[in-house]
Amino acid sequence: MKLVEPILTQRIPCFPHADPKDRHIVSYDEFTKTGGYEALEKALDLEPAQVLATVKDAVLRGRGGAGFPAGLKWSFLAPEDGKGSRYLCINCDEAEPGTFKDRLLVDFDPHLILEGIAIACWACKLDVAYFFIRGEYHHQARVMERAIQEAYAAGIFGKQGLMRGKQKFAVECYVHRGAGAYICGEETGLLEAIEGKRGWPRVKPPFPAVKGLFGRPTIVNNVETLAAVPSIIARGVAWWKSIGVESSFGGMASYGPKLMGVSGHVNRPGCFEAPLGISLRALVNDYCGGMRDGKKFKGAIAGGVSMGVLGTDQFDAAMDFEIGRRCDVLGLGTACPTIFDEDTDMVAIARNCARFFMNESCGQCTPCREGAGWIYKLLTRIERGDATTRDLDVLVEVASSMGLSEGTTICGLADGNNWAVRTLVNKFRPEFERRVKPHFVPVHLVAR
Ligand SMILES: Cc1cc2nc3c(=O)[nH]c(=O)nc-3n(C[C@H](O)[C@H](O)[C@H](O)COP(=O)(O)O)c2cc1C
Ligand code: SF4
Repeated sequence: MKLVEPILTQRIPCFPHADPKDRHIVSYDEFTKTGGYEALEKALDLEPAQVLATVKDAVLRGRGGAGFPAGLKWSFLAPEDGKGSRYLCINCDEAEPGTFKDRLLVDFDPHLILEGIAIACWACKLDVAYFFIRGEYHHQARVMERAIQEAYAAGIFGKQGLMRGKQKFAVECYVHRGAGAYICGEETGLLEAIEGKRGWPRVKPPFPAVKGLFGRPTIVNNVETLAAVPSIIARGVAWWKSIGVESSFGGMASYGPKLMGVSGHVNRPGCFEAPLGISLRALVNDYCGGMRDGKKFKGAIAGGVSMGVLGTDQFDAAMDFEIGRRCDVLGLGTACPTIFDEDTDMVAIARNCARFFMNESCGQCTPCREGAGWIYKLLTRIERGDATTRDLDVLVEVASSMGLSEGTTICGLADGNNWAVRTLVNKFRPEFERRVKPHFVPVHLVAR
């Protein structure tokens, strides 16, 4: 196994490089003594456009789920118009089932994120940052608030600003706590929530870079995406591109280290920093100590439930941004797989996923609101043994018809439901068929 030098977790002991038992919150003093905020200094020696170009050249793909390149997104920002603030919203909603990677950074190295925030604000000329954190992360919100206070005391944030020659660069940074809805992780639902409204996703376009928070140009980035920025500035584009894999289809590559939170039936579940492109098998065997109790691999949620599942024959899937195209899942998502062993009941998994999407649908779009309820009811019937083969077909039909990619909904939550249910049924069809009865057509309805 080729290990990469830990970068995102260099101050956080993690398997297999180090034992996590010595973890502690890295303070401002400890952060600066170990090279922290040096990348910010380096960035401030460059013009904002040069910093943006560096991130763009590095092809830093978003770590929040969609894999959209951060530099490209930053370049879409509307030009400065002097009419008000321009915002950075940091997405730490992390409500995707099985996903626990941003939390590791917040828990132990909050200043790494703050350094990324400051550099992004400089590159994009943003003056206010909102750190949106999920409601359930009580402890993490406090850790972040304390780190932000330390950064204010050190002059990183605040009205006095950082100086670049005679040019002042001032950013205000706030923590905004969510109230526990998965939909607030969707970037425009998040903006609505910060504005104090119900977290209903907005119809796009306009995209946030043009009209975002309070109607002003806004960048929304995931915590891990921003935490990767300091190392790109400090070590350069060539170094970043030396980790990860090129595209197999002549498209955009998957560069850099990635945090992968592995849960489920493995010996050592946890969050690990691995190179993009590592196979799921290597992740399980080399980082997680193998399958629990020596059982066989049956399948895995690829990277959050919304991405769908990998089948039994896809244990060697490469964990990069092209996994969707190669393995018939929606994408890499958060790169936090949940592993299932041979004893797992895939029908129960499907019903559990469907219950999650039903509960979390915001209700704006009919196919998502109604479809999620139908899917859950059908799966409950299938699990109980009360359904027929016809119900199985209806289930797949309903799931397939909902989502942004089908053009029937406002946001991607419905696509998550679609892919989770459809891939579970398609890749484990015999298991579902064993639970249903043949469809009975009354004799008087059969065409003669
Ligand atoms: C239903 C739904 C939930 C989402 N939840 C999150 C989340 O918890 N964290 C996150 O970073 N992105 C989440 N996203 C993706 C965001 O909309 C957005 O693409 C991301 O925050 C952009 O950051 P990135 O480009 O740095 O990845 C979610 C998307 C959808 C459709
Ligand atoms: S797809 Fe679902 S969650 Fe997204 S906006 Fe529509 S109803 Fe709400």
